[in-house]
Amino acid sequence: MIKHRIDVMHGVNLDQLGRRDPEVYGTFTLPELEVRIKGYAAELGFDVTFWQTNHEGEFCEELHRARDRADGLVLNPGAWTHYSYAIRDALEVCGLPAVEVHISEVDSRDDWRRITVIGDLCVGRVQGKGAEGYRDALEILHAELAR
Ligand code: DQA
Repeated sequence: MIKHRIDVMHGVNLDQLGRRDPEVYGTFTLPELEVRIKGYAAELGFDVTFWQTNHEGEFCEELHRARDRADGLVLNPGAWTHYSYAIRDALEVCGLPAVEVHISEVDSRDDWRRITVIGDLCVGRVQGKGAEGYRDALEILHAELAR
């Protein structure tokens, strides 16, 4: 059986999990979150690779590279989600099935967080479910890749 490779890409400020507004984002750190995601991925038979950067251009370059090495993407670009047309364009170039994830419930926070510039390029969007949301995202990709 082919083992699909999924790139999980965390954007700006996600490296601050654990010390960043725990009421909104929980108390887990990024390495702790990645352990959990790895567990969810194993249940679905996925190989996962993680990326995090605070630099928008690097995030774009990873999207360019992902095209040749991954089968699907789980993306939490952080605040870039709401305004980065550069990331949107890079995702379009990449062309892989992608799911947008947010740890917090962005739609019930500030008005500007309700905007997503990548949402219509994604096969799914998960928000407000904390770490569990990444399981949902991987399940969406699993269904998409089985089609
Ligand atoms: C976030 C929500 C964004 O609005 C915010 O800028 C983040 C994290 C989330 O996971 O809930 O950095 O993407």
